[in-house]
Amino acid sequence: MKLDKKIKVGIIGATGMVGQRFVTLLSNHPWFEITALAASKRSSGKTYKEAVSGRWKMDVEIPSEVSELKVMDIHDIDNVSSKVDMVFSAVDMPKEEIMQIEDDYAKTETPVVSNNSAHRWTDDVPMLMPEINDDHCKVIEAQKKRLGTTRGFVAVKPNCSIQAYVPLLAAWDEYEPYELAISTYQAISGAGKTFKEWPEMVENIIPYIGGEEEKSEKEPLKVLGEVKDGKVVNKEGLAITCQCLRVPVLNGHTASVFIKFKNPPQKEDLIKKLNEFKGFPQNENLPSAPKQFIHYLQEDDRPQVKLDVDCEKGMAISVGRLREDSVYDFKFIGLAHNTLRGAAGGAVLCAETLVAKGYIKSKAF
Ligand SMILES: NC(=O)c1ccc[n+]([C@@H]2O[C@H](COP(=O)([O-])OP(=O)(O)OC[C@H]3O[C@@H](n4cnc5c(N)ncnc54)[C@H](OP(=O)(O)O)[C@@H]3O)[C@@H](O)[C@H]2O)c1
Repeated sequence: MKLDKKIKVGIIGATGMVGQRFVTLLSNHPWFEITALAASKRSSGKTYKEAVSGRWKMDVEIPSEVSELKVMDIHDIDNVSSKVDMVFSAVDMPKEEIMQIEDDYAKTETPVVSNNSAHRWTDDVPMLMPEINDDHCKVIEAQKKRLGTTRGFVAVKPNCSIQAYVPLLAAWDEYEPYELAISTYQAISGAGKTFKEWPEMVENIIPYIGGEEEKSEKEPLKVLGEVKDGKVVNKEGLAITCQCLRVPVLNGHTASVFIKFKNPPQKEDLIKKLNEFKGFPQNENLPSAPKQFIHYLQEDDRPQVKLDVDCEKGMAISVGRLREDSVYDFKFIGLAHNTLRGAAGGAVLCAETLVAKGYIKSKAF
């Protein structure tokens, strides 16, 4: 798909770690151009280069087209909205304030694609993993009625911890998975940190990530649910228990998963389903879509963070060690890039999906 006119985008929370990732992913994007960057009063009025000075965390330079852009205050909503067709949200504020500001942007007829958890449980807000549940976009019509908008709405992406196993549940749906026991091994960038900023994490494991276990157990139920009467209704009959550990890895969340099926298949069937699995982004050839969403690796020592986290620019997930288990039916290891597929990259893919389906358009039309 080729657009007649690029979509003008703003990033609210542009100076933070996820905001910086948005900036690098959206510069030179074939469909989007950055026309506004916004953050707190601490940053507003400065050029982007000045605002991120000493805290630029990406391994590429600040894109030249944004380095001199003046950072705006995210609370200057009318002004930011007047410069954009949509915004990406990566602000870190108390949950109620995030919900309010995302609704306020939507009410100016500016669609919001959010990386934040604040609206994930609002039942007319779709929580999108575009390969799995692009049909949830239709709940946006009910949300627009609630907000009183014609084109403004909020869409969110789910938590970074679930990316390494939920796609498999979708691929294996016909075998009816019903019980999972999971441990996740999560990178420090998931807390917005590097080793320089968090030296205590070197050679360490911390067996606690606040709020993460609940998200890892519950969010899959909404992602795999269905839209009924203007709401996303959770999937039933699926029980997930999860422990989340912070490990000394910079990027990449690994999940160790045990799974039971109502109709247990053969291992070969499961691998075949993973290799064949694709969705709307692959069918529509969206700019950020990995060609092959799930890569099954045959080697016993894969997936490995160092070798596999950047698979298909960090947008594909890697899976290995699928084998029968003596208590559950099967077990496997999954790996996903937490700040690409799990955060900004996943949100950009959501926005591309919403553009391809006609929910996000240039305000000029
Ligand atoms: N890091 C990850 O991998 C990851 C993954 C998934 C989800 N998330 C979520 O994404 C959000 C951003 O995470 P992050 O790691 O990028 O955070 P971060 O580095 O702390 O950046 C926070 C951003 O929000 C802005 N901000 C903070 N307080 C504000 C206020 N009172 N008013 C206006 N703007 C304010 C900051 O602006 P200033 O620079 O001007 O202070 C900055 O742009 C968080 O909700 C986080 O939970 C993060």
